[in-house]
Amino acid sequence: MSAGECQTRNANDYSDDEKEDTPPPLDAEDIELLKAYGVGPYTKLIKDAENEIKTHQETVKTLIGIKESDTGLSQPSQWDLVGDKQMMQEEQPLQVARCTKIIAGENETDPSKYVINVKQIAKFVVGLGEKVAPTDVEEGMRVGVDRTKYSIQIPLPPKIDPTVSLMTVEDKPDVTYDDVGGAKDSIEKLREVVEMPLLHPERFVTLGIDPPKGVLLYGPPGTGKTLSARAVANRTDACFIRVIGSELVQKYVGEGARMVRELFTMARSKKACIVFFDEVDSIGGSRTGGDENGSDNEVQRTMLQIVTELDGFDARGNIKVLMATNRPDTLDPALLRPGRLDRKVEFGLPDLEGRTHILRIHSKRMNVDRDIRYELLARLCPNCTGAELHSVCTEAGMFAIRARRKSVSEKDFLDSVNKVIKGYKKFSATPKYMVYN
Ligand SMILES: Nc1ncnc2c1ncn2[C@@H]1O[C@H](COP(=O)(O)OP(=O)(O)OP(=O)(O)O)[C@@H](O)[C@H]1O
Ligand SMILES: [Mg+2]
Repeated sequence: MSAGECQTRNANDYSDDEKEDTPPPLDAEDIELLKAYGVGPYTKLIKDAENEIKTHQETVKTLIGIKESDTGLSQPSQWDLVGDKQMMQEEQPLQVARCTKIIAGENETDPSKYVINVKQIAKFVVGLGEKVAPTDVEEGMRVGVDRTKYSIQIPLPPKIDPTVSLMTVEDKPDVTYDDVGGAKDSIEKLREVVEMPLLHPERFVTLGIDPPKGVLLYGPPGTGKTLSARAVANRTDACFIRVIGSELVQKYVGEGARMVRELFTMARSKKACIVFFDEVDSIGGSRTGGDENGSDNEVQRTMLQIVTELDGFDARGNIKVLMATNRPDTLDPALLRPGRLDRKVEFGLPDLEGRTHILRIHSKRMNVDRDIRYELLARLCPNCTGAELHSVCTEAGMFAIRARRKSVSEKDFLDSVNKVIKGYKKFSATPKYMVYN
């Protein structure tokens, strides 16, 4: 008897059985039991609570009178046009002025007067509005004044160029210190300088020393300088401003220097702030002189502005400066001298242990066979950088994809080591870096 026949017979048997004794129809008790089947002990309570929350949310919504609509506006029936018009009449738009001087008053009955400068109109001596306390206004501050009596209505924050304020890193990068392999000493040195003064300023005060203001990260390309800076940004709650050196090179004379100035003004207005200049060699080149090229002058001016800003703030203050480069020899000595960038942290080529660690980090999220000898692989790539090891992992994945396999085997890794390390040797920038330094 073939398999097909057997199946049909079985099916027939089954239907016969059913015909013979049809089960009795379900009664109410059975239905109750079925309903309760698979229901946990607290299900009913939870359901009740959820419904209650829902009704409460509904009542809150009706009480507030806000309904969701496509435009985000409330319903036209709820508009208060008259009230809005009245409000607009009462609160006129303010004018921006600068408070240049405060003439102190003598007693309660004779309050202080303020000299304000409204741009392109005139200077006035005015008093304070109702809503401003005398302590709110300082000399040199931007203020909002009303258009009739010019009394000061509101203190304003300093004006910051939008291109500068855009450099703040709002959302934290998802890189942590665990993602940086090798480079233990470098990371330790970096954390010491950046985190300690922000977290434990009192230790420096009791010892009576000033913590270093800035750190220079240097090393061959692809050894994890930018990566570590991102890890720092992730770790600290401080505001993190990331500037790429070439962003500060502008078309007009003085623009770059002005941007640096505004950058530090913004940094000073924060509670704690880390400024990170990536690829600083684009602006921090040494002043060799003799070159009659106007464009170089402008770049130098930008760099000198950074130098003065570094001198300007208090070392125990809230700003830390990080800079990263892979050509430390070309930087201007004035930028590097102790007192400005005190610490220089080298990110060198990872050693055997570091390489193994980096390979493990990058293959962690990959689908790999279980027993891969990472030490062996690391031994096969002497003198190579973290970026190259990352590339080894990616290429191994590509080999696996090409062979239509679901996971990466050790052979793939060996092939990719051959391809990346041996094949791309002539592109490697590390030997050149070693010659320059
Ligand atoms: N120590 C490391 N641990 C883990 N990954 C690393 C490490 N070093 C480099 N990498 C990998 O190499 C990539 C490039 O590193 P990174 O951007 O930090 O280089 P860099 O030092 O800033 O180079 P450059 O001087 O050219 O700017 C990183 O995204 C990371 O994947
Ligand atoms: Mg970099």
